[in-house]
Amino acid sequence: MHMKFHITTFGCQMNVHDSQWLTRALESRGWEETGEDDAQVYILNTCSVRDKPEQKVYSELGRVAAHCKRDESVFAAVGGCVAQQVGRGFFERFPFVRLVFGSDGIAGAPNALERIAAGSDERVALLDFVTLYEERERPETPAAPDNTRQAFVNIMQGCDNFCAYCIVPYTRGRQKSRTPDAILDECRSLVDNGVREITLLGQNVNSFGLDKGGTGVSFAQLLRAVAAIPGLDRLRFTTSHPKDIAGEVIRAFGELENLCPSLHLPMQAGSDRVLKAMRRKYDMKRYLEIVDGLKAARPDISLTTDLIVGFPGETEEDFKETLRMVELVGFESSFSFKYSDRPGVAAVNMEPKVPAEEAAERLLRLQTLQNNITRKCLKNLVGVETDAFIEGLSRMQEGDALSWKGRDPAGRIVNVSVAESGDLVGRMVPVRIVEAKKHSLVGERTGEPW
Ligand code: 5AD
Ligand code: SF4
Repeated sequence: MHMKFHITTFGCQMNVHDSQWLTRALESRGWEETGEDDAQVYILNTCSVRDKPEQKVYSELGRVAAHCKRDESVFAAVGGCVAQQVGRGFFERFPFVRLVFGSDGIAGAPNALERIAAGSDERVALLDFVTLYEERERPETPAAPDNTRQAFVNIMQGCDNFCAYCIVPYTRGRQKSRTPDAILDECRSLVDNGVREITLLGQNVNSFGLDKGGTGVSFAQLLRAVAAIPGLDRLRFTTSHPKDIAGEVIRAFGELENLCPSLHLPMQAGSDRVLKAMRRKYDMKRYLEIVDGLKAARPDISLTTDLIVGFPGETEEDFKETLRMVELVGFESSFSFKYSDRPGVAAVNMEPKVPAEEAAERLLRLQTLQNNITRKCLKNLVGVETDAFIEGLSRMQEGDALSWKGRDPAGRIVNVSVAESGDLVGRMVPVRIVEAKKHSLVGERTGEPW
């Protein structure tokens, strides 16, 4: 039974990658991805890290309900973090939901979808946590179907950290590392098939191998092995926990040529008191040491971060420490959020809660500061010569030449106009940065695409 499916993804890069994998696994069974209006199967890959993305899931389910009413054979599947939490509860509330799967259950999702589509009237829940990483089938279809020649590779799943605010250990289970052989094998085969950029993914990549699935290979060793694959032009990894980043990984930024000069290093707060309450297990002295080490290894490194304002007990003084640290480190950009209570996490019972208006006001102040820093960082790049790795056409087109959207090695968006026609997706265009916009750069082509 070849079905038309539509997949909607919320949340982090792990979810984006999970959805890409599921899409390819279904395509290799002859299924076809389609628009929202004519799908026979709706798949929602969900996120519950904060209240907002979770609410989006329910409004999206309302829309799916309308589609499922069209025809009784149309059905939905809910995967990801909200699915793991609510589980079979979805079956009771939404009669058209026929499959729920968590991140550990995703490996079995394609076969379950096939069975349901073939007419089995069962409702399937794939919610068991596993203790070892379960290898997923590797679909034959191209890794980067849109020809971007960029790919994500999972190196682990789950998280053992139990930060006081975070639901992830409950929704994605304990940390389980994939074997280095499986990771390297996948990376090599991607590069053999034309991939030029790989992003290694995990909730906390720096503790790679430090679980039951470990084989004694550290993250630093894995990084070296992947970087050594001939033909790999760019290597990235995310996400890092400051408490686990090894000196060897910091030094790698100065040693591995294809390791991109950017790091997302979630700081969460700038006050040691708040960091302690958050159970982050580092203080600002340690965080700043890491930053110094990174800047020494790679002076042009671009640092980005995640920040939470209004964590229970955060005072105005604590918050000012966050502002001070953001300025001191000079993060090029950051994701910042108001603390939101998540079911079952330790911070739910922490007091006093910061009033919503106060948290909103702090968020605004933080984001204003960040915008100023971002602007300065981007301005400083005018005149720099670099390569833009082209992902597609820019949203804004003007004049006769086509404008392309690419990324510099640090991952910044660089738009560049190229007079000749011809598809540049997946190619590097040498550029000189000529202008800084609010969140992107404009480059002028200086050489032949490669
Ligand atoms: N409230 C607000 N932000 C949160 N994050 C995680 N849990 C919460 C929460 N309960 C943020 C953190 C994390 C990012 C993915 O989401 O900053 O790094
Ligand atoms: Fe959202 Fe976290 Fe789950 Fe990713 S792991 S989808 S950020 S809750």
